[in-house]
Amino acid sequence: MSSYDVAVIGSGPGGYVAAIRCAQLGMKTAIIEKYATLGGTCLNVGCIPSKALLDSSHHYEDAIKHFDTHGIEIPGEVKVNLEKMIARKQAVVDQTIGGIDFLMKKNEIDVFQGIGSFKDATNINITKEDGKVETIQAKNTIIATGSKPSSLPFIKIDKERVITSTEALKLKEVPKHMIVIGGGVIGLELGQVYKRLGAEVTVVEYLDRIIPGMDRACSKELTKVLKKQKIKFALSHKVKSVERNGNEVVVKADNKKGEEVTFTGDYCLVAVGRHAYTDGLNLEAAGVKQEERGRVAVNEHLQTNVPNIYAIGDVIKGAMLAHKAEEEGTLVAEVLAGQKPHIDYNLIPGVVYTWPEVAAVGKTEEQLKEAGVDYKVGQFPMRALGRARASMDIDGFVKIIADKKTDEVLGVHMVGARVADLISEAVVAMEFRASAEDIARMSHAHPTYAEAVKEAALGATEDRSIHM
Ligand code: FAD
Ligand code: NAI
Repeated sequence: MSSYDVAVIGSGPGGYVAAIRCAQLGMKTAIIEKYATLGGTCLNVGCIPSKALLDSSHHYEDAIKHFDTHGIEIPGEVKVNLEKMIARKQAVVDQTIGGIDFLMKKNEIDVFQGIGSFKDATNINITKEDGKVETIQAKNTIIATGSKPSSLPFIKIDKERVITSTEALKLKEVPKHMIVIGGGVIGLELGQVYKRLGAEVTVVEYLDRIIPGMDRACSKELTKVLKKQKIKFALSHKVKSVERNGNEVVVKADNKKGEEVTFTGDYCLVAVGRHAYTDGLNLEAAGVKQEERGRVAVNEHLQTNVPNIYAIGDVIKGAMLAHKAEEEGTLVAEVLAGQKPHIDYNLIPGVVYTWPEVAAVGKTEEQLKEAGVDYKVGQFPMRALGRARASMDIDGFVKIIADKKTDEVLGVHMVGARVADLISEAVVAMEFRASAEDIARMSHAHPTYAEAVKEAALGATEDRSIHM
């Protein structure tokens, strides 16, 4: 029987990064993946394919709506070839997955394809597609089995018309009317893809605002812009039934007043969150405990109640984000190597890749209010930037919240073009515990979107933004 210092179950961004870091630190490492391709949700049916479709649909929208203003005339009709668009997305996915195969070889990590399940705390069975079982021994195991889409008890996901994000990434036609249940990250990103491609899109959200975990100012701005893009919103609506009749999907919900509202479309995307995935792991055989919502329970070292078994990523508590899973993979590898790593969860940024993008790090204004922290705010609109006017991306703002007494930056919230990349400046600043004045005094290249960060910092420092 093969034996390893570490076995990683699951090859998403948590698992494959953990495996690479373990190998870098000199551990003999195996990775077990039940699917034929490595990379997990993120690479196969998550981050990468959704961004590929967001980019393609954005180009189309620019061509039909904005080229003319830029003085670019296209003779004839601009058309979407959905099949080709989806094929390009798949090519991007395949190339990215190929990169992970290469990294496994480079780091001499043994890859096992099959379902990993605990025989006991140190032996793992790997069940192959043909039913054959191979057992490996591992001194330590890292559970990185990720998450699956959640649904509502009364919804039957038929994967044809009533779908999750996985099916929405490979539709064969542009829906006429896509009803999206859930105004969170998936609903808005994929809703925007199909809106751009010509679908009518209605987002039905239970709460009174979209992207409810983010600063209220971001929710408000994004709602305003998406409404301008003709996405419809039914906020404070409690969905109570989803029925499919042939090619038609009927969604019924109760509005705030308790009145029944009916939405009729040809596709319904259910995007109401995701839940930890541990099916088939046979956690009981190893004695690993779970907590609420099926998550694997871990301590601050991401160690389960069984000392040689750790867990990372979507399968444990915290934000379900690829970069959070990656940091946790690195942390566990370094803990196993006897190091003392640390993750500051407050500094894990969150991004929504709609256009305009939304990005945030640190505390929201609501959280600071609730905690009774005395704070001040500097906010600068994108439309006041030369760069934003040049590209006609004038929606959004940068908002910096700083401690009223010490001026330390406590939270940064942004809506606008390329803020997914801009947020890194805020993460760096907060990691080094910068004050708003520190950012305000740094030179920012002109003309860039980053100037909005400087201007917001100036605003937070002494209400002295220059260009407003
Ligand atoms: P996963 O990526 O889910 O990987 C788990 C792997 O474990 C899977 O490959 C699974 O097959 C395997 N597995 C499970 N059980 C077993 C078993 N018993 N044996 C062997 N293998 C097993 N996050 C971002 O940060 N940015 C984004 O832009 C973003 N976009 C997203 C878009 C969509 C549509 C979706 C659905 C998600 C998106 N996410 C994004 C979230 C991101 O994909 C997850 O947070 C991330 O993939 C979690 O990584 P993980 O390693 O914990 O698990
Ligand atoms: P989400 O948690 O972002 O949003 C779910 C939304 O559905 C919430 O607004 C919630 O209030 C709403 N909702 C819940 N129950 C409802 C009901 N009964 N009726 C109507 N609305 C209801 O979850 P989502 O969008 O499914 O994404 C899952 C995870 O994937 C997220 O946690 C996110 O972290 C990750 N992801 C990250 C992305 C990114 O980083 N850009 C992109 C896509 C997904």
